[in-house]
Amino acid sequence: MDHKPLHLIAAADRNMGIGISGNLPWSLPNELNYFLSKITTVSDPGKKNLIICGKGSVVKDSLSLPNCYCVVLSRTLCSVPENADYLCRDLPSAIQLASMPPLSEEIETIWVIGGVKPFEEAMKHPNCDRIYLTHIMAEFSCDTFFPKFDWDTFKLLDEFPGVPSDIQEENGIKYKFQVFQKVCKE
Ligand SMILES: NC(=O)c1ccc[n+]([C@@H]2O[C@H](COP(=O)([O-])OP(=O)(O)OC[C@H]3O[C@@H](n4cnc5c(N)ncnc54)[C@H](OP(=O)(O)O)[C@@H]3O)[C@@H](O)[C@H]2O)c1
Repeated sequence: MDHKPLHLIAAADRNMGIGISGNLPWSLPNELNYFLSKITTVSDPGKKNLIICGKGSVVKDSLSLPNCYCVVLSRTLCSVPENADYLCRDLPSAIQLASMPPLSEEIETIWVIGGVKPFEEAMKHPNCDRIYLTHIMAEFSCDTFFPKFDWDTFKLLDEFPGVPSDIQEENGIKYKFQVFQKVCKE
């Protein structure tokens, strides 16, 4: 069984807040476009990415995103929601989809896009090598928070190809794109 690269992608405020009342706490269209561009980009035009998320984090119009299959995690849903391609009961089964026929030949990268539990479980997964975490340099009212992560395991990179390193600003809100790479331990 082959193993696909597994990345997390999120945006969090100064207090690591990521959500409020089921929505994003901010409106940052360019940040959203950055997120969409990352999860839909493939280096091989014949391939697709596997997007994994909890029931409350499905991207709007996810079925019309190019180069993607969307897997929703839920233990209570009985059928695939209309905005997704697959339904899985847990994260390992969703990750396994990418390594078994019929998807194994097609999937390039697995992206875990939230919420809290999928992030928490995915960052502990042995195949998780990178976390794209936009740092929103402001405080918002939030009820959902990015889980704690192990700073000894993931190191912030100074720069990364395809990721602007300068501070961004939209609607008066400053933010910066960050990439954390897993440190190889011998
Ligand atoms: N800023 C960001 O980057 C970002 C990213 C993602 C989401 N968000 C925000 O975060 C909030 C949603 O996150 P959330 O953590 O509350 O919810 P969520 O993970 O999106 O959805 C929770 C539901 O998904 C299912 N689920 C989640 N993890 C699972 C797992 N490991 N195995 C099986 N089922 C699983 C469960 O459904 P069942 O109860 O049916 O089993 C659970 O009740 C929203 O406000 C959203 O806008 C922000």
